[in-house]
Amino acid sequence: MTVNEEALMWVEKYRPKNLNEVVDLHDIVESLKAFMRNPKTMPHLMFAGIPGTGKTTAALCIAHELFGPNWKSFTLELNASDERGIDTVRERVKDFSRYSHSGFGNVPYALIILDESDQMTGPAQTALRRIMETSSRTSRFILICNQSSKIIEPIQSRCAIFRFSRLDKQAMKEHLQYIAQKENVKLLPEAAERIVDYSEGDLRHAINALQTASAYKEGVVDEKTVLLVIGEASPMQVQKMIRKALYGDFMEARKTMYEIMGSYGFSGSEIVRQIQREIFKMSDLTPEQKADISNIIGEYDYRLTQGANSDIQLSALLAQFAKFGKSIGETN
Ligand SMILES: Nc1ncnc2c1ncn2[C@@H]1O[C@H](COP(=O)(O)OP(=O)(O)OP(=O)(O)O)[C@@H](O)[C@H]1O
Ligand SMILES: [Mg+2]
Repeated sequence: MTVNEEALMWVEKYRPKNLNEVVDLHDIVESLKAFMRNPKTMPHLMFAGIPGTGKTTAALCIAHELFGPNWKSFTLELNASDERGIDTVRERVKDFSRYSHSGFGNVPYALIILDESDQMTGPAQTALRRIMETSSRTSRFILICNQSSKIIEPIQSRCAIFRFSRLDKQAMKEHLQYIAQKENVKLLPEAAERIVDYSEGDLRHAINALQTASAYKEGVVDEKTVLLVIGEASPMQVQKMIRKALYGDFMEARKTMYEIMGSYGFSGSEIVRQIQREIFKMSDLTPEQKADISNIIGEYDYRLTQGANSDIQLSALLAQFAKFGKSIGETN
């Protein structure tokens, strides 16, 4: 990707520059701000959690806040999975602490941000632990990873660990609206809702979906466009189809099925996957009923992977739903 293309990426354009702009992570932000007020107290940090929730962002905010505009001179950014082995890390850390004059102003250390640290092998981690010990007077580490359990215990115990979990839906929606407004795009509420549902707490994913959707239609992002972009049928429509089948209106269910296939161009397998997901959201079915229905779905999913005709198999699946619906109707 060229610099220009990167500038056009909203995820980069709207990446927070300081901790106050970070979305949702109130407790984490408060603790980090306390370290910023008195940098000497900052221990090594570990940021662990799912993708797209602000780990790298928070680490870069810390660099900005500690060192100001010249932060790059005092911050070493390494990617554990890119670097060729721990020896490179060791050399670069050593060189870096030599030239960074171990700190700036009232910050008596340089910052080393090690991304994807859970990709390091056991021996590399043992070596890293030693590097952390020998350079601890002059450097602070921020280790970033998805799973803290993949990091050896002696390193974990040297760090203050912060866990980044799925971001709050409401906070994500507000942030998407903020970006849309800045970009002069009208983001309809139900479209924002779909993006946030689909992104499962990953804000990077959500912003990328918003940007892609905004390219379809001038100035507005509606639900239909979002569903096209994320490659899913409307959950409401899928549920409508399932309900009609279960409650005895097979012909209507089949009609809805053709509507879904026609308007989005899905394969049979994709629709089956979405049916499965909606079933588990339906509060009018008991867990036992959901399990029975899953069994039925499993069989048709298999047939479709074997190359059976999508229309016929989906119709047959809906017919099975109708039969199942009738059987629960009789026992109730
Ligand atoms: N909490 C947040 N507040 C504001 N923006 C965020 C937040 N989390 C993610 N973003 C947005 O998503 C982009 C990616 O976030 P970031 O690089 O911090 O994710 P990450 O947690 O490091 O993910 P990964 O585990 O994949 O490295 C940012 O550039 C920013 O636009
Ligand atoms: Mg990251």
